[in-house]
Amino acid sequence: MQIATTIEDVRRVRWADPAQTWGLVPTMGMLHEGHLSLVRRARADNDCVGVSIFVNPIQFDRRADLDAYPRQLRRDCELLQAEGVDLVWTPAEDEMYPPGFQTYVALDAISQVLEGAARPGHFRGVTTVVAKLFNVFQPTRAYFGQKDAQQAAVIQQMVRDLAFNLDVVVCPIVREPDGLAMSSRNVRLAPDERAAALVLYRALTAARDEWEQGKRDGDRLRATMRAIVESEPLARLDYVSAADPVTLAEITGPADRALLSMAVFFGDVRLIDNMILQ
Ligand code: PAJ
Repeated sequence: MQIATTIEDVRRVRWADPAQTWGLVPTMGMLHEGHLSLVRRARADNDCVGVSIFVNPIQFDRRADLDAYPRQLRRDCELLQAEGVDLVWTPAEDEMYPPGFQTYVALDAISQVLEGAARPGHFRGVTTVVAKLFNVFQPTRAYFGQKDAQQAAVIQQMVRDLAFNLDVVVCPIVREPDGLAMSSRNVRLAPDERAAALVLYRALTAARDEWEQGKRDGDRLRATMRAIVESEPLARLDYVSAADPVTLAEITGPADRALLSMAVFFGDVRLIDNMILQ
């Protein structure tokens, strides 16, 4: 496994044999089974696999969240080595954003709802860094998790709009045995908050059960999820949503498919989760 920092080194490794297909898994490190599921899928689909590890400062809307973001580069590299990854790319901040940097990629409607409304500027940071990762790496395929459902939808939209020459592959959410979606932020939960955090999955499955009984009204699905989250004293609800999975517009009235999603604070730790119903 090679470890590259500079753009030049990445390009050299990537193009050593132009006939080989490459899968790229963009991450911010602190890798867990969720990330590794993307790496394994990339491993199965491609000749070579690259993983980028970069805590992207411009996608954090709160300075405290950036400062608190956990980092463990050495262990991350060990995990990736064990997965048979060919190239780990750990860009330096001043190479991703050199002095005088002034070009950003920003999407309209799809990036302004849900996470985009709750975290102004967040998706502009995500799409800008992902566009640069794509341009430098030029992967055959790029892998993203359904855990960040809106991020996956936004990136797919960007790839269509700007005609990036690659396929986006979206992989299922990996959960802890008790249902909590794996996240690098979970380690910051106090033990009582960790227990309380199960409320996200409980709310989603309760809404799914109603959906399966034929109760498919957007307002009702949102009300069900909100009531369950609000019954948990340690949880502070940021938003609940029942939206169209492609446009992310909120569902009004009955629907035949839905993306349920929510963001909930436990102390200063903000967790998101979602489920697709059809
Ligand atoms: P990060 O939060 O490190 O996540 C990297 C990838 O892992 C994302 O595509 C995310 O959806 C996926 N992932 C995280 N937890 C998962 C889980 N429990 N199950 C399945 N997939 C999961 O997302 C980012 O980094 C950044 O925004 C990035 C795209 C790298 C741009 O900076």
